[in-house]
Amino acid sequence: MDNLQNFHRTNYCGDFRITDAGKTVSVCGWVQRQRDLGGLIFVDLRDRTGLVQLSFDDSTDKAIFDKAASLRAEYVIAATGLVRERESKTNKIPTGDVEIYVTELRLLAKADTPPFEIVEDSKANDMLRLKYRYLDLRRPDMQRAIATRHRITKIARDYFDEQGFLEIETPMLTKSTPEGARDYLVPSRVHPGKFYALPQSPQQYKQLLMLSGFDRYMQIARCFRDEDLRADRQPEFTQIDLEMSFVNEEDVMTIQEGFLKRVFKEVLDVDVQTPFLRMPWREAMDRFGSDKPDLRFGFEIKDISDIVKGCGFGVFSGPVAEGGSVRLINVDGHAADFPRKKIDKLADFVKTYKAKGLAWTRMVDGQVTSSYQKFLTEEENKAILERAGAKDGDLVLIVGDAKDEVVFAALGALRCECAKQLGLLDPKDFKFLWVTQFPMFEYSEEEGRYVAMHHPFTAPMDEDLDKLETDKKNCRAKAYDIVLNGTELGGGSIRISVPETQQAMFRALGFTDEDAQERFGHLINAFKFGAPPHGGLAYGLDRLCMLMAGAESIRDVIAFPKVQNASEPMTNCPDFVEEKQLDDLSIAVTRKEQDEPEA
Ligand code: AMO
Repeated sequence: MDNLQNFHRTNYCGDFRITDAGKTVSVCGWVQRQRDLGGLIFVDLRDRTGLVQLSFDDSTDKAIFDKAASLRAEYVIAATGLVRERESKTNKIPTGDVEIYVTELRLLAKADTPPFEIVEDSKANDMLRLKYRYLDLRRPDMQRAIATRHRITKIARDYFDEQGFLEIETPMLTKSTPEGARDYLVPSRVHPGKFYALPQSPQQYKQLLMLSGFDRYMQIARCFRDEDLRADRQPEFTQIDLEMSFVNEEDVMTIQEGFLKRVFKEVLDVDVQTPFLRMPWREAMDRFGSDKPDLRFGFEIKDISDIVKGCGFGVFSGPVAEGGSVRLINVDGHAADFPRKKIDKLADFVKTYKAKGLAWTRMVDGQVTSSYQKFLTEEENKAILERAGAKDGDLVLIVGDAKDEVVFAALGALRCECAKQLGLLDPKDFKFLWVTQFPMFEYSEEEGRYVAMHHPFTAPMDEDLDKLETDKKNCRAKAYDIVLNGTELGGGSIRISVPETQQAMFRALGFTDEDAQERFGHLINAFKFGAPPHGGLAYGLDRLCMLMAGAESIRDVIAFPKVQNASEPMTNCPDFVEEKQLDDLSIAVTRKEQDEPEA
């Protein structure tokens, strides 16, 4: 095997243009493909910038020619040669006008045949790609995604630095606190029976840094949450985490708008209009059935409970009588795209959101068909269509339920599903939105009590301060989420900085004073020493990268992600450890996962 003694790379493969003809250059990389045409050999050489063609012919030194003949896909080579105009040009690659006529060739490493081809848009199975992630990452789309992630991170650091933020690291080994997702725990060897928790976010530390007077903090922070995976959720993910002192909501939002404007301009050359639309949570739910509405299309939700509450059709009047509601969306102009069979599929779709069914009216070419009209009076039918703003060509879809949450969840998802089926979701159309005035609390069926919707350090709105302990349902928070195209990109709030309010919040969450002291004593005590009003926000960096790279899952912008069951197929973690390691940690394992039987 050759080495790189006295060899110096001069260029990346993707750099060459016709203006480079006549230059002697040296390149390194992987063989994408070798074509041996007898007296002629062509090798496509790949590095992270792209491909360039190397050529060998009958005037090539015999030893070099023979070495070129031995090359196979993914061999690692270095070559020196003359850039020259190609005889048969191609516009498929940016270097397609030229080739390198090789005068020196070094074979640096051979390669087994890879389990899948290293090409753009691989059709290889996901598990296989993740098992051989280092090969998957060689593919150009993955290389681009990871490079985009780097750019976004770099711009975040630059922007916030220019705005006076200090990057400060916070601990990875922290105290486990209830509230939020399940913690990842780390056993302590030195303190048998005690555990650290990996941070779900640096929330408490960044607030303490405000108490320390740092005024503006940022961190590219790893976070860990033991929760079920989804396309936009990983157990281990990264935040661009921020906190600021002496600010109100508008101050925080304005700084963020500056960041997003800059990052979209510099990375995608997209001009984002600021300020972004601001919408109270209640309005977002009423109009879009979601606290992260996708504003790239309409199909807004309308309430028809007042029209149907006394009607003779139990499917509509029942839910209203039981304290719920009946609401609709108008998929305007698209009735023809949804024949009966497709509507039946939409009915199955809403059932996955616990809706009991889907009522509909379809108006095509003056013909009105409907699943419910025969059960209602003419006036009621007319009033519903009027509320929907329906005209010929429209499709009205209705869901009623005794629980408002079900109606919102079903219709919120349905409007997105219809838009998806209609191809209305342009990934290059970026619609930003601030959702504000979130509820302070949400009721947890699982725990049988109110829990903090954001986190226990979020300040209530001044108007709702007195509702903190007396009217939890209607108490609103100084919390805001930044939403982009139906994804929650980030969230934050103004924090409680008054010790008495923090204590009231803990009481509202059902902690006794002793519990609160035990769990959050460090924070409660710190607040007694002069706390500046402060607030902040954290972006999901992975989600921002996913949307900017046009990817469908955050997996595609993380170099080494976990799969659905939180394992990593390449290293095979998590894994059993040796008995001795457990002994050192004073840990006894009571239950073990059965190994998967061999297929
Ligand atoms: P929150 O819990 O809303 O707030 O998280 C902030 C943002 O982080 C991203 N995110 C995730 N990304 C990938 N995988 C996950 N499992 C995951 N969970 C959350 C989302 C989300 O908007 N400390 C507060 C922020 C603050 O108040 O300043 C916090 O962590 O994009």
